Amino acid sequence: MSARLLRGRLLSFIRKPEAADDHASYRYEDDGGLLMQDGRIKTFGAYQTVKAKAPDDVVIVDHRPHLIMPGFIDPHIHYPQMQVVGSYAGSLLEWLNTYTFIEEQRFDDEIHSARIAGRFFDELVRHGTTTAVAYCSVHRSSADNFFAEASRRNLRMIAGKVMMDRNAPDALTDTPQSSYEDTQHVIDRWHGRGRNLVAITPRFAITSSPEQMEMAGALARRNPDLHIQTHLSENKAEIEFACELYPSAKDYTDIYARYGLLGPRTLLGHAIHLSDRELGALAEAEAVPVSCPTSNLFLGSGLFDLRRIERAGLRAAFATDIGGGTSYSMLRTMDEAYKVQQLAGNRMPPLESTWRMTRGNADALGLTDRIGTLDEGSEADVVVLDAQATPAMALKMERVTTLSEELFLMQTMGDDRTIREVYVAGEPGKSVLVH
Ligand code: GUN
Ligand code: ZN
Repeated sequence: MSARLLRGRLLSFIRKPEAADDHASYRYEDDGGLLMQDGRIKTFGAYQTVKAKAPDDVVIVDHRPHLIMPGFIDPHIHYPQMQVVGSYAGSLLEWLNTYTFIEEQRFDDEIHSARIAGRFFDELVRHGTTTAVAYCSVHRSSADNFFAEASRRNLRMIAGKVMMDRNAPDALTDTPQSSYEDTQHVIDRWHGRGRNLVAITPRFAITSSPEQMEMAGALARRNPDLHIQTHLSENKAEIEFACELYPSAKDYTDIYARYGLLGPRTLLGHAIHLSDRELGALAEAEAVPVSCPTSNLFLGSGLFDLRRIERAGLRAAFATDIGGGTSYSMLRTMDEAYKVQQLAGNRMPPLESTWRMTRGNADALGLTDRIGTLDEGSEADVVVLDAQATPAMALKMERVTTLSEELFLMQTMGDDRTIREVYVAGEPGKSVLVH
């Protein structure tokens, strides 16, 4: 593979921005050069300096005047729900029972899951997302097809076969034993192969029996370096039902704690309605709440209190949650996150939300050494953003004078049209269309 040198404005975060004008939190190069070789970032710097170091046969791509950033990271998304998006429901449990548990049964069919996996990665990359943490369906083959397709595209993906053995249609349930065996099979086959990582994925306490939770805990003990993903305290009726099913647990969070499922690599989708005790338990475990603002607004689930979560010492991540969520775009997601914070009287500066789409989510996943920055040695997943992608954006750009204003414009008005190009492990990613 030949080296590629991108020219444009480079932006990559060093740490979380502490204020709207925290310019020490990022690296920025106005006429920058980003040298990518063998799937990794070789050099970040001023264009002329980087070009002088590049091999003679380097391929130069001029992206001026666009902004070059690390690819976006979406830490909570359901690939079998691409055709659930926009389903008309009053609340979470109605939405699950009426649409989602019906749709996911179609993933018993391998031809269907292979087709949707292809469409899924097309859509992610079109929206500038180069890493996602995904739920597959209960069917083992849905995970096999997911990882086969991710491997073909050389994407850094994390996903798991969903474990669910009750409170769902028979055709969408496994058993404690089969969920253990199938998950271990997926781990043995895919974890660490290429860029694939497997997550242990009990769907949520409502759809897992105590016996299955034991199995999920056993998988976590046997595979301690894996991520664990599940849902927590998204909706009031869900919380009530979960606590009824586990009467001896102190609260919803304690259900997962009892089975050894809380740790620094545990990703808890939604985590909206939490008591102080639960926040303390999550902080002690260093688990990660994952907020999904478009989904929480669409299903009327509630408002995530980011500052309260952070005051408790927790890392928070932000995600789309397709198909409860309504957009594949991390720009749209952070726009909705911003609005939710506005309602709570918390202003989220544009530097902070841009950090969250990239390095912030990588920090939450414990993967900053590989993704989420343009640092030398990092994997070369890169997005090229155009703040003038639509006539209305171009008009507004006439009045923009700072980087923060430009980032805020892209968050407020941007979507897939803002994504000019994507590089996956150093190779152009948008052009891979396989169906
Ligand atoms: N809780 C359990 N399963 C799901 C799901 O698929 N989507 C959402 N939003 N919440 C869930
Ligand atoms: Zn979810």
